[in-house]
Amino acid sequence: MIDIKLEPLGKIIQVEKHTALQDVLFDHGVEFPCGGDGTCGKCNVRVIDGDLPINDVQRRYFSREELSSGWRLACQCYVKEPVTLELAQWEMAILSDDSRLKISGREGYGVAVDLGTTTLVVQLIDLSSGNVTGVRTALNPQAKYGADIMSRIDYALTDNGAQRLRQLIRDQLLDMIQELTGDMAPVEPQINRVVIVGNTAMHHLFCGVDITPLSRVPFETENDGQFTWNSADIGWQIPGNPKIEFLPCLGGFVGSDILAGIIATGIHQSDEMMALVDLGTNGEVVVGNRKKILCASTAAGPAFEGAKISMGMRATTGAISRVALENRQMISHIIGGGASKGICGSGLVDVVACSLDLGLIDGTGKIKQPDSAIKISDQVRITQQDVRELQLAKGAIAAGFDILVQRLGILKKDVGKVHIAGAFGNYINVENALKIGLLDFDHQKMVQAGNTALRGAKMALFGSSDYRSIIERCTHVPLASDEQFMEIFVENMQF
Ligand code: FES
Repeated sequence: MIDIKLEPLGKIIQVEKHTALQDVLFDHGVEFPCGGDGTCGKCNVRVIDGDLPINDVQRRYFSREELSSGWRLACQCYVKEPVTLELAQWEMAILSDDSRLKISGREGYGVAVDLGTTTLVVQLIDLSSGNVTGVRTALNPQAKYGADIMSRIDYALTDNGAQRLRQLIRDQLLDMIQELTGDMAPVEPQINRVVIVGNTAMHHLFCGVDITPLSRVPFETENDGQFTWNSADIGWQIPGNPKIEFLPCLGGFVGSDILAGIIATGIHQSDEMMALVDLGTNGEVVVGNRKKILCASTAAGPAFEGAKISMGMRATTGAISRVALENRQMISHIIGGGASKGICGSGLVDVVACSLDLGLIDGTGKIKQPDSAIKISDQVRITQQDVRELQLAKGAIAAGFDILVQRLGILKKDVGKVHIAGAFGNYINVENALKIGLLDFDHQKMVQAGNTALRGAKMALFGSSDYRSIIERCTHVPLASDEQFMEIFVENMQF
Protein backbone atom coordinates (compact mmCIF):
# COMPACT_ATOMS: atom_id res chain seq x y z
CA MET A 1 0.00 0.00 0.00
CA ILE A 2 1.10 3.55 -0.70
CA ASP A 3 0.24 6.73 1.21
CA ILE A 4 -1.17 9.74 -0.63
CA LYS A 5 -1.25 12.86 1.50
CA LEU A 6 -3.80 15.47 0.46
CA GLU A 7 -3.18 19.12 1.22
CA PRO A 8 -4.69 21.40 2.42
CA LEU A 9 -7.06 18.74 3.81
CA GLY A 10 -4.25 17.12 5.77
CA LYS A 11 -5.76 13.73 4.95
CA ILE A 12 -3.79 10.60 4.22
CA ILE A 13 -5.34 7.93 2.06
CA GLN A 14 -3.84 4.53 1.42
CA VAL A 15 -4.05 2.97 -1.99
CA GLU A 16 -2.52 0.05 -3.77
CA LYS A 17 0.46 0.65 -5.98
CA HIS A 18 -0.54 1.58 -9.58
CA THR A 19 -3.96 2.91 -8.48
CA ALA A 20 -5.34 5.51 -10.87
CA LEU A 21 -5.63 8.87 -9.10
CA GLN A 22 -8.96 9.40 -10.82
CA ASP A 23 -10.44 6.55 -8.80
CA VAL A 24 -9.58 8.15 -5.47
CA LEU A 25 -9.49 11.91 -5.85
CA PHE A 26 -13.04 12.71 -6.93
CA ASP A 27 -14.32 12.29 -3.36
CA HIS A 28 -11.78 14.87 -2.26
CA GLY A 29 -12.80 17.67 -4.55
CA VAL A 30 -10.96 17.07 -7.81
CA GLU A 31 -13.25 17.34 -10.80
CA PHE A 32 -12.83 15.31 -13.97
CA PRO A 33 -14.85 17.34 -16.48
CA CYS A 34 -14.03 15.24 -19.57
CA GLY A 35 -14.32 12.02 -17.61
CA GLY A 36 -10.56 11.47 -17.69
CA ASP A 37 -10.13 11.53 -21.48
CA GLY A 38 -7.25 13.97 -21.15
CA THR A 39 -9.04 16.50 -23.35
CA CYS A 40 -10.14 19.24 -20.93
CA GLY A 41 -6.97 19.87 -18.95
CA LYS A 42 -8.94 20.75 -15.83
CA CYS A 43 -8.20 17.98 -13.32
CA ASN A 44 -5.10 19.78 -12.04
CA VAL A 45 -3.24 18.73 -8.92
CA ARG A 46 0.22 19.72 -7.76
CA VAL A 47 2.83 17.32 -6.45
CA ILE A 48 4.47 18.81 -3.37
CA ASP A 49 6.45 15.76 -2.35
CA GLY A 50 7.28 12.56 -4.23
CA ASP A 51 6.62 12.19 -7.92
CA LEU A 52 3.96 11.26 -10.46
CA PRO A 53 5.02 10.20 -13.95
CA ILE A 54 4.51 12.59 -16.86
CA ASN A 55 3.04 11.42 -20.16
CA ASP A 56 2.51 13.12 -23.54
CA VAL A 57 -0.99 14.30 -22.67
CA GLN A 58 0.37 16.23 -19.70
CA ARG A 59 3.19 17.64 -21.81
CA ARG A 60 0.52 19.13 -24.06
CA TYR A 61 -1.19 20.92 -21.19
CA PHE A 62 1.70 22.10 -19.09
CA SER A 63 4.84 24.03 -19.85
CA ARG A 64 8.19 22.57 -18.79
CA GLU A 65 8.26 24.98 -15.81
CA GLU A 66 4.77 23.97 -14.72
CA LEU A 67 5.67 20.29 -14.89
CA SER A 68 8.82 20.84 -12.90
CA SER A 69 6.90 22.76 -10.26
CA GLY A 70 4.72 19.68 -9.84
CA TRP A 71 1.57 20.32 -11.93
CA ARG A 72 -0.10 17.16 -13.21
CA LEU A 73 -3.42 16.07 -14.72
CA ALA A 74 -4.85 13.73 -12.09
CA CYS A 75 -6.68 11.66 -14.69
CA GLN A 76 -3.39 10.71 -16.35
CA CYS A 77 -1.55 9.56 -13.23
CA TYR A 78 -1.02 6.24 -11.50
CA VAL A 79 0.60 6.18 -8.07
CA LYS A 80 3.97 4.47 -7.86
CA GLU A 81 5.45 5.95 -4.69
CA PRO A 82 4.21 7.93 -1.67
CA VAL A 83 3.18 11.43 -2.71
CA THR A 84 1.85 14.63 -1.19
CA LEU A 85 -0.60 16.44 -3.43
CA GLU A 86 -2.06 19.88 -3.23
CA LEU A 87 -5.69 19.95 -4.24
CA ALA A 88 -7.61 23.01 -5.23
CA GLN A 89 -10.12 22.26 -2.50
CA TRP A 90 -13.58 23.44 -3.33
CA GLU A 91 -17.05 23.50 -1.98
CA MET A 92 -20.19 23.63 -3.99
CA ALA A 93 -23.35 25.27 -2.77
CA ILE A 94 -26.15 22.84 -3.57
CA LEU A 95 -29.58 24.33 -4.03
CA SER A 96 -32.23 22.65 -1.91
CA ASP A 97 -35.79 23.79 -1.30
CA ASP A 98 -37.16 24.70 2.10
CA SER A 99 -40.55 25.94 1.03
CA ARG A 100 -43.29 24.54 3.20
CA LEU A 101 -45.95 22.63 1.33
CA LYS A 102 -49.53 23.56 1.98
CA ILE A 103 -50.54 19.96 1.38
CA SER A 104 -50.61 17.45 4.22
CA GLY A 105 -52.86 14.93 5.89
CA ARG A 106 -51.27 11.69 4.74
CA GLU A 107 -49.83 8.89 6.78
CA GLY A 108 -46.14 8.25 7.24
CA TYR A 109 -43.19 9.74 5.40
CA GLY A 110 -42.14 10.35 1.84
CA VAL A 111 -38.79 10.97 0.17
CA ALA A 112 -38.27 13.45 -2.69
CA VAL A 113 -35.11 13.18 -4.78
CA ASP A 114 -33.66 15.69 -7.24
CA LEU A 115 -31.14 13.65 -9.21
CA GLY A 116 -28.99 16.19 -11.04
CA THR A 117 -26.06 15.64 -13.36
CA THR A 118 -23.79 17.33 -10.82
CA THR A 119 -25.62 17.40 -7.52
CA LEU A 120 -28.10 15.31 -5.57
CA VAL A 121 -30.68 16.50 -3.06
CA VAL A 122 -32.79 14.13 -0.98
CA GLN A 123 -35.48 15.30 1.43
CA LEU A 124 -37.48 13.34 3.97
CA ILE A 125 -41.01 14.71 4.30
CA ASP A 126 -43.51 14.13 7.07
CA LEU A 127 -46.61 13.52 4.98
CA SER A 128 -48.98 14.33 7.83
CA SER A 129 -47.70 17.89 8.21
CA GLY A 130 -45.90 18.55 4.90
CA ASN A 131 -42.78 19.48 6.90
CA VAL A 132 -39.26 18.69 5.71
CA THR A 133 -37.81 16.42 8.42
CA GLY A 134 -34.32 16.11 6.99
CA VAL A 135 -32.21 16.87 3.95
CA ARG A 136 -29.02 15.43 2.46
CA THR A 137 -27.04 16.86 -0.41
CA ALA A 138 -24.10 15.32 -2.28
CA LEU A 139 -22.25 15.42 -5.53
CA ASN A 140 -23.38 12.92 -8.10
CA PRO A 141 -20.72 10.17 -7.84
CA GLN A 142 -21.07 9.51 -11.58
CA ALA A 143 -19.39 12.86 -12.21
CA LYS A 144 -15.97 11.30 -11.93
CA TYR A 145 -16.81 9.67 -15.27
CA GLY A 146 -17.68 12.95 -16.98
CA ALA A 147 -18.92 16.24 -15.56
CA ASP A 148 -21.49 17.14 -18.20
CA ILE A 149 -24.29 15.11 -19.72
CA MET A 150 -22.60 14.34 -23.02
CA SER A 151 -19.38 13.01 -21.52
CA ARG A 152 -21.45 10.96 -19.05
CA ILE A 153 -23.38 9.48 -21.97
CA ASP A 154 -20.10 8.72 -23.75
CA TYR A 155 -18.90 6.84 -20.69
CA ALA A 156 -22.22 4.98 -20.41
CA LEU A 157 -21.69 3.70 -23.95
CA THR A 158 -18.39 2.02 -23.02
CA ASP A 159 -18.30 -1.62 -21.86
CA ASN A 160 -20.30 -1.95 -18.64
CA GLY A 161 -20.28 1.84 -18.37
CA ALA A 162 -24.05 2.23 -18.03
CA GLN A 163 -24.22 -0.57 -15.48
CA ARG A 164 -21.45 0.98 -13.39
CA LEU A 165 -23.10 4.41 -13.48
CA ARG A 166 -26.46 2.89 -12.50
CA GLN A 167 -24.96 1.11 -9.53
CA LEU A 168 -23.05 4.17 -8.38
CA ILE A 169 -26.11 6.39 -8.31
CA ARG A 170 -28.41 3.79 -6.78
CA ASP A 171 -25.90 3.10 -3.99
CA GLN A 172 -25.37 6.79 -3.30
CA LEU A 173 -29.07 7.61 -3.11
CA LEU A 174 -29.76 4.61 -0.88
CA ASP A 175 -27.00 5.77 1.50
CA MET A 176 -28.53 9.24 1.66
CA ILE A 177 -32.04 7.90 2.33
CA GLN A 178 -30.74 5.52 5.02
CA GLU A 179 -28.84 8.37 6.68
CA LEU A 180 -32.03 10.43 6.77
CA THR A 181 -34.10 7.64 8.29
CA GLY A 182 -31.21 6.78 10.67
CA ASP A 183 -31.24 10.37 11.95
CA MET A 184 -34.70 9.74 13.40
CA ALA A 185 -33.58 6.80 15.59
CA PRO A 186 -34.94 5.37 17.84
CA VAL A 187 -38.06 6.11 15.76
CA GLU A 188 -38.11 4.13 12.55
CA PRO A 189 -40.06 6.28 10.09
CA GLN A 190 -42.24 4.27 7.74
CA ILE A 191 -41.60 5.52 4.22
CA ASN A 192 -44.63 5.24 1.95
CA ARG A 193 -43.29 6.67 -1.24
CA VAL A 194 -40.09 7.84 -2.92
CA VAL A 195 -40.38 10.19 -5.91
CA ILE A 196 -37.28 10.80 -8.04
CA VAL A 197 -36.92 13.40 -10.79
CA GLY A 198 -34.01 14.09 -13.11
CA ASN A 199 -33.06 14.94 -16.65
CA THR A 200 -33.49 12.33 -19.37
CA ALA A 201 -29.93 11.01 -19.14
CA MET A 202 -30.16 10.63 -15.34
CA HIS A 203 -33.57 8.97 -15.75
CA HIS A 204 -32.19 6.45 -18.24
CA LEU A 205 -29.09 5.71 -16.22
CA PHE A 206 -31.02 5.15 -13.00
CA CYS A 207 -33.83 3.17 -14.62
CA GLY A 208 -31.58 1.03 -16.82
CA VAL A 209 -32.95 2.35 -20.13
CA ASP A 210 -30.68 2.22 -23.20
CA ILE A 211 -29.03 5.61 -23.47
CA THR A 212 -27.76 5.20 -27.05
CA PRO A 213 -30.53 7.31 -28.68
CA LEU A 214 -29.48 10.27 -26.53
CA SER A 215 -26.03 10.19 -28.09
CA ARG A 216 -27.14 11.00 -31.65
CA VAL A 217 -29.52 13.16 -33.65
CA PRO A 218 -32.53 13.47 -33.25
CA PHE A 219 -31.95 12.70 -29.52
CA GLU A 220 -35.38 11.12 -29.19
CA THR A 221 -35.58 8.21 -26.79
CA GLU A 222 -37.69 5.13 -27.10
CA ASN A 223 -38.61 4.85 -23.46
CA ASP A 224 -38.92 7.96 -21.37
CA GLY A 225 -41.76 6.60 -19.29
CA GLN A 226 -42.52 6.27 -15.65
CA PHE A 227 -40.75 3.53 -13.71
CA THR A 228 -42.08 2.14 -10.46
CA TRP A 229 -40.54 -0.49 -8.20
CA ASN A 230 -40.95 -1.71 -4.65
CA SER A 231 -37.77 -0.66 -2.92
CA ALA A 232 -36.72 -4.27 -2.24
CA ASP A 233 -36.93 -4.96 -6.00
CA ILE A 234 -33.95 -2.71 -6.60
CA GLY A 235 -32.12 -3.86 -3.49
CA TRP A 236 -33.01 -0.83 -1.36
CA GLN A 237 -33.57 -1.76 2.28
CA ILE A 238 -35.79 1.07 3.47
CA PRO A 239 -38.30 0.89 6.35
CA GLY A 240 -41.79 0.43 4.92
CA ASN A 241 -40.53 -1.07 1.61
CA PRO A 242 -41.96 1.96 -0.22
CA LYS A 243 -42.90 2.37 -3.82
CA ILE A 244 -40.07 4.08 -5.75
CA GLU A 245 -41.21 6.17 -8.70
CA PHE A 246 -39.01 7.86 -11.25
CA LEU A 247 -41.33 10.37 -12.92
CA PRO A 248 -41.48 10.27 -16.73
CA CYS A 249 -39.63 12.61 -19.06
CA LEU A 250 -41.36 14.99 -21.48
CA GLY A 251 -39.37 14.10 -24.61
CA GLY A 252 -35.85 14.38 -26.00
CA PHE A 253 -33.63 15.97 -23.38
CA VAL A 254 -36.57 17.44 -21.47
CA GLY A 255 -36.69 15.27 -18.38
CA SER A 256 -38.88 14.77 -15.34
CA ASP A 257 -37.02 17.58 -13.56
CA ILE A 258 -38.85 19.90 -15.97
CA LEU A 259 -42.15 18.04 -15.46
CA ALA A 260 -41.62 18.66 -11.73
CA GLY A 261 -40.81 22.30 -12.52
CA ILE A 262 -44.19 22.65 -14.27
CA ILE A 263 -45.92 21.15 -11.22
CA ALA A 264 -44.01 23.48 -8.87
CA THR A 265 -44.68 26.65 -10.83
CA GLY A 266 -48.29 25.79 -11.64
CA ILE A 267 -47.99 26.52 -15.38
CA HIS A 268 -50.49 23.72 -16.02
CA GLN A 269 -53.10 25.45 -13.85
CA SER A 270 -52.53 29.00 -15.05
CA ASP A 271 -54.94 30.98 -17.21
CA GLU A 272 -52.23 33.31 -18.40
CA MET A 273 -49.22 32.16 -20.39
CA MET A 274 -46.18 31.37 -18.25
CA ALA A 275 -42.67 30.21 -19.01
CA LEU A 276 -39.99 28.18 -17.28
CA VAL A 277 -36.33 28.08 -18.19
CA ASP A 278 -33.59 25.91 -16.73
CA LEU A 279 -30.13 26.99 -17.82
CA GLY A 280 -27.44 24.36 -18.09
CA THR A 281 -25.63 22.40 -20.80
CA ASN A 282 -29.09 21.67 -22.08
CA GLY A 283 -31.18 24.75 -21.58
CA GLU A 284 -34.76 23.58 -21.25
CA VAL A 285 -37.55 26.02 -22.03
CA VAL A 286 -41.28 25.65 -21.42
CA VAL A 287 -44.12 28.00 -22.42
CA GLY A 288 -47.81 27.39 -21.85
CA ASN A 289 -50.88 27.56 -19.68
CA ARG A 290 -53.60 25.21 -18.46
CA LYS A 291 -54.70 24.46 -22.01
CA LYS A 292 -51.46 23.82 -23.83
CA ILE A 293 -47.79 23.54 -22.96
CA LEU A 294 -44.81 23.38 -25.32
CA CYS A 295 -41.33 22.41 -24.19
CA ALA A 296 -37.95 22.16 -25.85
CA SER A 297 -34.36 21.54 -25.03
CA THR A 298 -31.63 23.63 -26.59
CA ALA A 299 -28.05 22.51 -26.89
CA ALA A 300 -26.82 25.57 -25.02
CA GLY A 301 -23.37 24.08 -24.65
CA PRO A 302 -21.37 24.07 -21.49
CA ALA A 303 -20.70 27.83 -21.17
CA PHE A 304 -23.17 28.34 -18.31
CA GLU A 305 -21.45 25.63 -16.29
CA GLY A 306 -18.00 27.02 -16.92
CA ALA A 307 -16.77 24.20 -19.15
CA LYS A 308 -15.15 25.09 -22.52
CA ILE A 309 -14.47 28.56 -21.08
CA SER A 310 -10.71 29.04 -20.94
CA MET A 311 -10.73 29.87 -17.23
CA GLY A 312 -14.18 28.48 -16.59
CA MET A 313 -15.17 26.52 -13.53
CA ARG A 314 -18.32 25.69 -11.67
CA ALA A 315 -19.77 27.91 -8.97
CA THR A 316 -17.41 26.65 -6.29
CA THR A 317 -14.71 28.10 -4.04
CA GLY A 318 -12.45 30.43 -5.99
CA ALA A 319 -14.89 31.14 -8.82
CA ILE A 320 -15.73 34.70 -9.81
CA SER A 321 -19.49 34.50 -9.53
CA ARG A 322 -20.49 38.17 -9.82
CA VAL A 323 -18.99 41.19 -11.50
CA ALA A 324 -20.30 44.76 -11.25
CA LEU A 325 -19.12 48.16 -12.40
CA GLU A 326 -17.94 50.75 -9.91
CA ASN A 327 -16.54 53.94 -11.40
CA ARG A 328 -16.18 52.09 -14.70
CA GLN A 329 -14.02 49.43 -13.04
CA MET A 330 -15.06 45.79 -12.91
CA ILE A 331 -15.33 44.62 -9.30
CA SER A 332 -15.63 40.90 -8.84
CA HIS A 333 -17.03 38.71 -6.10
CA ILE A 334 -15.19 35.46 -5.48
CA ILE A 335 -16.96 32.51 -3.89
CA GLY A 336 -15.35 31.74 -0.53
CA GLY A 337 -13.15 34.87 -0.70
CA GLY A 338 -9.45 34.42 -1.37
CA ALA A 339 -7.80 34.53 -4.77
CA SER A 340 -9.79 33.95 -7.93
CA LYS A 341 -9.12 30.67 -9.73
CA GLY A 342 -11.59 30.98 -12.56
CA ILE A 343 -15.02 32.19 -13.56
CA CYS A 344 -18.41 30.47 -13.44
CA GLY A 345 -21.44 31.00 -15.70
CA SER A 346 -23.08 33.83 -13.74
CA GLY A 347 -19.73 35.68 -13.61
CA LEU A 348 -19.30 35.28 -17.34
CA VAL A 349 -22.74 36.77 -18.05
CA ASP A 350 -21.84 39.73 -15.79
CA VAL A 351 -18.43 40.30 -17.41
CA VAL A 352 -19.92 40.38 -20.87
CA ALA A 353 -22.71 42.74 -19.75
CA CYS A 354 -20.16 45.06 -18.09
CA SER A 355 -17.89 44.88 -21.14
CA LEU A 356 -20.78 45.89 -23.40
CA ASP A 357 -21.38 48.89 -21.11
CA LEU A 358 -17.70 49.82 -21.23
CA GLY A 359 -17.52 49.36 -25.01
CA LEU A 360 -14.91 46.58 -24.64
CA ILE A 361 -17.15 44.27 -26.67
CA ASP A 362 -19.31 45.32 -29.60
CA GLY A 363 -22.77 44.08 -30.57
CA THR A 364 -21.34 41.27 -32.68
CA GLY A 365 -19.39 39.96 -29.71
CA LYS A 366 -15.99 41.12 -30.91
CA ILE A 367 -13.57 42.05 -28.15
CA LYS A 368 -12.15 45.47 -29.01
CA GLN A 369 -8.96 45.14 -27.00
CA PRO A 370 -5.46 44.82 -28.48
CA ASP A 371 -4.93 41.22 -27.28
CA SER A 372 -8.58 40.17 -27.78
CA ALA A 373 -8.95 39.36 -24.09
CA ILE A 374 -10.56 41.04 -21.08
CA LYS A 375 -8.73 40.96 -17.78
CA ILE A 376 -10.97 40.56 -14.75
CA SER A 377 -8.43 39.89 -12.01
CA ASP A 378 -4.71 39.19 -11.80
CA GLN A 379 -5.41 35.52 -12.42
CA VAL A 380 -8.52 35.51 -14.59
CA ARG A 381 -9.31 36.85 -18.04
CA ILE A 382 -11.80 35.95 -20.74
CA THR A 383 -10.93 35.41 -24.37
CA GLN A 384 -12.68 35.96 -27.67
CA GLN A 385 -13.51 32.26 -27.79
CA ASP A 386 -15.16 32.49 -24.35
CA VAL A 387 -17.42 35.28 -25.59
CA ARG A 388 -18.30 33.16 -28.65
CA GLU A 389 -19.23 30.21 -26.39
CA LEU A 390 -21.57 32.46 -24.43
CA GLN A 391 -23.08 33.77 -27.67
CA LEU A 392 -23.80 30.19 -28.78
CA ALA A 393 -25.46 29.42 -25.45
CA LYS A 394 -27.59 32.52 -25.28
CA GLY A 395 -28.48 32.32 -28.97
CA ALA A 396 -29.78 28.78 -28.47
CA ILE A 397 -31.91 29.66 -25.42
CA ALA A 398 -33.35 32.80 -26.99
CA ALA A 399 -34.12 30.91 -30.23
CA GLY A 400 -35.83 28.16 -28.23
CA PHE A 401 -38.15 30.72 -26.65
CA ASP A 402 -38.84 32.43 -29.98
CA ILE A 403 -39.87 29.16 -31.62
CA LEU A 404 -42.15 28.02 -28.79
CA VAL A 405 -43.85 31.40 -28.63
CA GLN A 406 -44.31 31.39 -32.41
CA ARG A 407 -45.79 27.90 -32.38
CA LEU A 408 -48.25 28.91 -29.69
CA GLY A 409 -49.31 31.84 -31.90
CA ILE A 410 -48.54 34.40 -29.18
CA LEU A 411 -46.01 37.17 -28.61
CA LYS A 412 -43.38 37.26 -25.89
CA LYS A 413 -45.23 40.13 -24.25
CA ASP A 414 -48.21 37.78 -23.76
CA VAL A 415 -46.14 35.69 -21.34
CA GLY A 416 -47.09 36.87 -17.85
CA LYS A 417 -44.32 35.27 -15.78
CA VAL A 418 -40.95 33.68 -16.54
CA HIS A 419 -39.60 31.30 -13.90
CA ILE A 420 -35.83 30.82 -13.95
CA ALA A 421 -35.10 27.48 -12.33
CA GLY A 422 -32.04 25.80 -10.92
CA ALA A 423 -28.81 26.82 -9.25
CA PHE A 424 -27.50 28.93 -12.11
CA GLY A 425 -30.86 30.70 -12.37
CA ASN A 426 -30.61 31.42 -8.67
CA TYR A 427 -27.25 33.17 -8.93
CA ILE A 428 -27.63 34.91 -12.28
CA ASN A 429 -28.02 38.68 -12.33
CA VAL A 430 -31.33 39.00 -14.18
CA GLU A 431 -30.63 42.53 -15.36
CA ASN A 432 -27.42 41.39 -17.02
CA ALA A 433 -29.12 38.32 -18.52
CA LEU A 434 -31.62 40.73 -20.10
CA LYS A 435 -28.85 43.10 -21.19
CA ILE A 436 -26.98 40.43 -23.16
CA GLY A 437 -30.25 39.10 -24.63
CA LEU A 438 -30.09 35.69 -22.96
CA LEU A 439 -33.61 36.40 -21.78
CA ASP A 440 -35.87 38.85 -23.54
CA PHE A 441 -38.81 39.59 -21.25
CA ASP A 442 -39.81 42.49 -18.98
CA HIS A 443 -37.75 42.54 -15.82
CA GLN A 444 -40.87 42.53 -13.61
CA LYS A 445 -41.98 39.24 -15.13
CA MET A 446 -38.84 37.36 -14.11
CA VAL A 447 -39.03 35.07 -11.07
CA GLN A 448 -35.93 33.34 -9.69
CA ALA A 449 -37.73 30.17 -8.77
CA GLY A 450 -35.08 28.10 -6.95
CA ASN A 451 -35.05 24.32 -7.08
CA THR A 452 -38.37 23.74 -8.85
CA ALA A 453 -37.42 20.12 -9.61
CA LEU A 454 -37.22 19.23 -5.91
CA ARG A 455 -40.33 21.24 -5.04
CA GLY A 456 -42.27 19.51 -7.81
CA ALA A 457 -41.05 16.08 -6.65
CA LYS A 458 -42.29 16.89 -3.14
CA MET A 459 -45.67 17.95 -4.48
CA ALA A 460 -45.87 14.75 -6.52
CA LEU A 461 -45.38 12.79 -3.27
CA PHE A 462 -48.84 13.94 -2.28
CA GLY A 463 -50.26 13.12 -5.68
CA SER A 464 -51.43 16.74 -5.56
CA SER A 465 -50.87 17.22 -9.20
CA ASP A 466 -51.87 14.70 -11.78
CA TYR A 467 -48.74 14.68 -13.87
CA ARG A 468 -50.27 12.36 -16.43
CA SER A 469 -52.71 15.08 -17.41
CA ILE A 470 -49.76 17.48 -17.76
CA ILE A 471 -48.01 15.04 -20.07
CA GLU A 472 -51.14 14.82 -22.23
CA ARG A 473 -51.21 18.61 -22.62
CA CYS A 474 -47.50 18.99 -23.14
CA THR A 475 -45.81 18.72 -26.54
CA HIS A 476 -42.09 18.36 -26.98
CA VAL A 477 -40.76 20.46 -29.88
CA PRO A 478 -37.52 19.02 -31.31
CA LEU A 479 -35.59 22.16 -32.20
CA ALA A 480 -32.85 20.30 -34.06
CA SER A 481 -35.30 19.55 -36.86
CA ASP A 482 -37.04 22.93 -36.89
CA GLU A 483 -36.42 24.60 -40.27
CA GLN A 484 -36.26 28.08 -38.82
CA PHE A 485 -34.09 27.26 -35.85
CA MET A 486 -30.73 28.02 -37.44
CA GLU A 487 -31.80 31.39 -38.78
CA ILE A 488 -33.38 32.50 -35.49
CA PHE A 489 -30.41 31.14 -33.54
CA VAL A 490 -27.90 33.13 -35.60
CA GLU A 491 -29.98 36.32 -35.20
CA ASN A 492 -30.05 35.79 -31.45
CA MET A 493 -26.30 35.44 -31.16
CA GLN A 494 -25.88 39.20 -31.45
CA PHE A 495 -25.77 41.21 -28.27
S1 FES B 1 -7.99 16.17 -18.66
FE1 FES B 1 -10.11 16.13 -18.42
S2 FES B 1 -10.38 15.05 -16.61
FE2 FES B 1 -8.25 15.09 -16.83
